[in-house]
Amino acid sequence: MFKVAVVGATGYTGLELIRLLSFHPLVEVEVVTSESYSGKLLSQVFPGMRGICDKELVPFDPDRVAEGVDVAFVCLPHGSSMEATKALVEKGVKVIDLSGDFRMRDIPTYEKWYKVVHVAPDLVKEAAYGIPELFRDEISNARLVANPGCYATSVILALYPLLEKGFVSGLVVADCKSGVTGAGRKLSQRTHFPECNESFMAYSVQGHRHNPEMEEILLRKTGIDVEILFVPHLVPMNRGILSTLYIELPESTSVADVEEAYRECYEEEPFIRVYSGGLLPSTKDVRGTNFCDIGFVYREDVKRLVVVSAIDNLVKGASGQAIQNLNLMLGVDETAGLSLAPLWI
Ligand SMILES: NC(=O)c1ccc[n+]([C@@H]2O[C@H](COP(=O)([O-])OP(=O)(O)OC[C@H]3O[C@@H](n4cnc5c(N)ncnc54)[C@H](OP(=O)(O)O)[C@@H]3O)[C@@H](O)[C@H]2O)c1
Repeated sequence: MFKVAVVGATGYTGLELIRLLSFHPLVEVEVVTSESYSGKLLSQVFPGMRGICDKELVPFDPDRVAEGVDVAFVCLPHGSSMEATKALVEKGVKVIDLSGDFRMRDIPTYEKWYKVVHVAPDLVKEAAYGIPELFRDEISNARLVANPGCYATSVILALYPLLEKGFVSGLVVADCKSGVTGAGRKLSQRTHFPECNESFMAYSVQGHRHNPEMEEILLRKTGIDVEILFVPHLVPMNRGILSTLYIELPESTSVADVEEAYRECYEEEPFIRVYSGGLLPSTKDVRGTNFCDIGFVYREDVKRLVVVSAIDNLVKGASGQAIQNLNLMLGVDETAGLSLAPLWI
């Protein structure tokens, strides 16, 4: 069995990792860290985990993690995450970092959007971006994987095949909606129950960190400098991201060409399901799974392609994708531990 650590095990992505890894056939969770709850068992903090993970939560100590594990997942807020990641990589531990700290190679852009000074710019250069469908080889050989942003995953996967085929020339509007767990477990007024329940709001309309991430990664992969107008929305549900993209296609491009573009890119991909015939996915179709479901409709009247992608922000948007990356780094079946049917009801 391979052994892993979950650093920041009491947050939403950390807990989701432990939930999914509990049923991974080749991986054992060896170390779980927490600053606020150290000394308690994980199953005392989350009673539903009794008999599933009864490990003691320990404060983060890079030496202790390095002693006993093959790979560490770092599930901390940005800033704290890069410090922990740097310490672990220096001790020889392979890391999958779930924060935004290693996703963008352009350090000034990172520092502008995250409002912190980067402490490990050299590691940024070598970090593989953790969307396996785009960067499988780099991930397999990496000692550091930057797990993508949840919104970024849903937009990049929906847009990439069209860019690759040269079907996108103008501005792409990405209108995206997320469940409340996307904001993490820490308390805030916006995610307080009476504030967000029975309501639906746009936020960060002046700009969101995942906007430069989407553009930089698509440029890195395709060489095309696409301009995306991304507006996130908060929806009163726990999990899920639904992204609706509005794209102007060249006159000569048909719906069959679009279908072919998605088929060519994703036919062999175990976690991407492309819907045909105008069928569109909902967040229920992917809830609790590592799938990204994509559907599209061509609006003849306004000459626009409307693409809809759905993911579970905590699975394909975070912890599930992190396990997919772990499987690649370990050289085992990429789908191990991720054969999940949707929690549709
Ligand atoms: N939520 C999502 O859908 C999602 C998706 C993709 C990526 N991410 C990224 O993944 C990382 C973890 O996200 P999350 O949603 O799991 O966050 P979270 O629920 O807020 O959990 C973060 C955990 O980190 C620990 N921690 C250690 N130092 C901390 C500090 N200085 N401030 C606050 N917490 C600290 C806390 O646990 P203790 O107090 O017990 O140590 C906390 O439970 C973030 O960088 C986030 O941007 C999140």
